[in-house]
Amino acid sequence: MSRAKKVVLAYSGGVDTSVCIPYLKHEWGVEEVIALAADLGQGDELDPVREKALKSGASESLVADVKDTFVKDYAFPAIQANALYENRYPLATALARPLIAKVLVETAEIYGADAIAHGCTGKGNDQVRFDVSVAALNPNLKILAPAREWGMSREETIAYGEKFGIPAPVKKSSPYSIDRNLLGRSIEAGILEDPTVEPPEEIYLLTKAIADTPNEPEYIEIGFTRGIPTSLNGETKRPIELIEQLNQVAGNHGVGRIDMIENRLVGIKSREIYESPAMVILIQAHRDLESLTLTADVSHYKRGIEETYSQMIYNGLWYSPLKAALDAFIQKTQEQVSGTIRVKLFKGNATIVGRHSENSLYTPDLATYGADDKFDHKAAEGFIYVWGLPTRIWAKHRRG
Ligand code: ARG
Repeated sequence: MSRAKKVVLAYSGGVDTSVCIPYLKHEWGVEEVIALAADLGQGDELDPVREKALKSGASESLVADVKDTFVKDYAFPAIQANALYENRYPLATALARPLIAKVLVETAEIYGADAIAHGCTGKGNDQVRFDVSVAALNPNLKILAPAREWGMSREETIAYGEKFGIPAPVKKSSPYSIDRNLLGRSIEAGILEDPTVEPPEEIYLLTKAIADTPNEPEYIEIGFTRGIPTSLNGETKRPIELIEQLNQVAGNHGVGRIDMIENRLVGIKSREIYESPAMVILIQAHRDLESLTLTADVSHYKRGIEETYSQMIYNGLWYSPLKAALDAFIQKTQEQVSGTIRVKLFKGNATIVGRHSENSLYTPDLATYGADDKFDHKAAEGFIYVWGLPTRIWAKHRRG
């Protein structure tokens, strides 16, 4: 029984997604597989990836350069939301999935496909993100996930591929599972599965070891316009350029490494290492600019929204009505969030050392302890009388 006629497959060039092609055709009776690789700045040569899909039996092999959209429509809103899953992970991998799902759906619609497919296993978050995003964008499309069902070991997968001319990985493949894009790298498996073990230096690519970072601090200045980073050291930058340069500068100082045990949506605790220099700094700087430009109540209320928003990104709900409603809230809060933040980079730390905004709510003659203090100290007394009244009444009753 055929599961679908024409399928658009999320393709990475790796063994698993390559094996998906003959598997879909020969085991699941799919007539035509269109491979789609999304260029998210993972740094792979995408021409060989295109070739490989065709050699593996795809009828079409497409590469979609979505880097600009990725930064503008996915990373920037996440920065405006100060989105960190479990307070730490800047969501580089999680943010890419809804965008890949969007191009899969668009391609399926253009080519008249009746299904999309991906190579995720049944243990991770990514399958959830793909499936839910595709369902949100086009609920009529079927979703095929061969690796969730085929039950083949690594060796069996390679052997199956070889029958169809898919070469086994040439070099002894890395013991790690790595996902990479413009926003950072996620590294897991191998020795990292032991949470007591310090990550070996070899896993890092974007961030230097502290021992190798410069012995002098470096100061950078990041400019934001309505919550969106727009300049670096006084120069206006295009979105991709800004991320790339920040990754470079911050990574050089060893900034942006995260080693955490996280709670996956499917209930498993996993240990993941991230390096995400630009995102870590941008969220830190953005949050600081908000502390200067937002009123206390908006700022405090937004913290709760940010927590929910981060969980929604992690849990695959990018295209959901609640997420859209929270976006409207966040966009409204960003109207005044423009200005510049000065950051000192040194030995793995990014420290905010200065901030400036035309919309700053910081009022020197109210804040000062000096002679030009304009704050009405006497007014505090009446305020505290009313503010503390419930507590005073309660304390009196308690004492009888
Ligand atoms: N734990 C991260 C997430 O769920 C990254 C997942 C992919 N990690 C990997 N090493 N391939 O978003």
